[in-house]
Amino acid sequence: MRNDRLRIAPLATACGAEVWGVDLAAAQDEGTIADIRRALLQHQVIFFREQNLTPAQHKAFAARFGSLQRHPMIRLDDQHPEVLRIVKEAGDDKNFGGDWHSDLSYLEKPALGSVLCAREVPEFGGDTLFANMYLSYESLSAGLRRLLDGLKAVHSTARSYGDGGRQAGYIGEEGSMPVARPDARQEAVHPVVRTHSETGRKALYVNEVFTIRFEGMSEAESRPLLEYLWRHSVRPEFTCRFRWRAGSVAFWDNRCTQHYAINDYHGRRREMHRVTVEGDRPA
Ligand code: SIN
Repeated sequence: MRNDRLRIAPLATACGAEVWGVDLAAAQDEGTIADIRRALLQHQVIFFREQNLTPAQHKAFAARFGSLQRHPMIRLDDQHPEVLRIVKEAGDDKNFGGDWHSDLSYLEKPALGSVLCAREVPEFGGDTLFANMYLSYESLSAGLRRLLDGLKAVHSTARSYGDGGRQAGYIGEEGSMPVARPDARQEAVHPVVRTHSETGRKALYVNEVFTIRFEGMSEAESRPLLEYLWRHSVRPEFTCRFRWRAGSVAFWDNRCTQHYAINDYHGRRREMHRVTVEGDRPA
């Protein structure tokens, strides 16, 4: 795709495109923002290279797409509480975001989009994978789609941020990403298939980090079908993979993607800054 302002180079047919011809640090006119939004809706995740955003510029760019959220679980910086510092120190084993998920899906109004800036990256490893959840839904059989269309699911912080959760020790009180309120729980019920409010397309909306069960069913009853959907939704042909450089920026649409930060750079430091834009109530 080409337009007057931006050059767009897809990474894969499933999703993902690099966008050239814009300096995100500058104030953008309405036309450029509309072009960026169009590219996001078309490719689900877009990437910009060689951007040097201050935290204030990072927030200002994200705020063109909606209200900014504060992460409810991680202790935040006083000066820029909307900027989540995602850090893996050289001595850490675990990383943040190292399982497939959609950001903040446990909130009533989960993130519409996330804007992630790479500040320090290892010389190898640390790529991020993205999966297209429209394709995940569309590639299911008509029978399973019909069943899922009528279901809702519970999304919760219990499994990741709770005692002994999957990130324990790393995002625990003393970890590299300290938890703000270790005993807090956030839970929300959302349709298993959501209709994207801008494109009108249906996308599968369950993820293995936060979706714990179908509404009206136990965790044990829900697990076999959820596990099938988690595996199915991230088949390699539904994904793209992004190799970071310091100064790279990714902007993804959480309404129709999942992502996975690969933890394959042990002994090296990685620091990313994320700002999320509030979305609507999934429907
Ligand atoms: C995340 O937002 O889940 C982290 C992604 C990354 O660090 O690549």
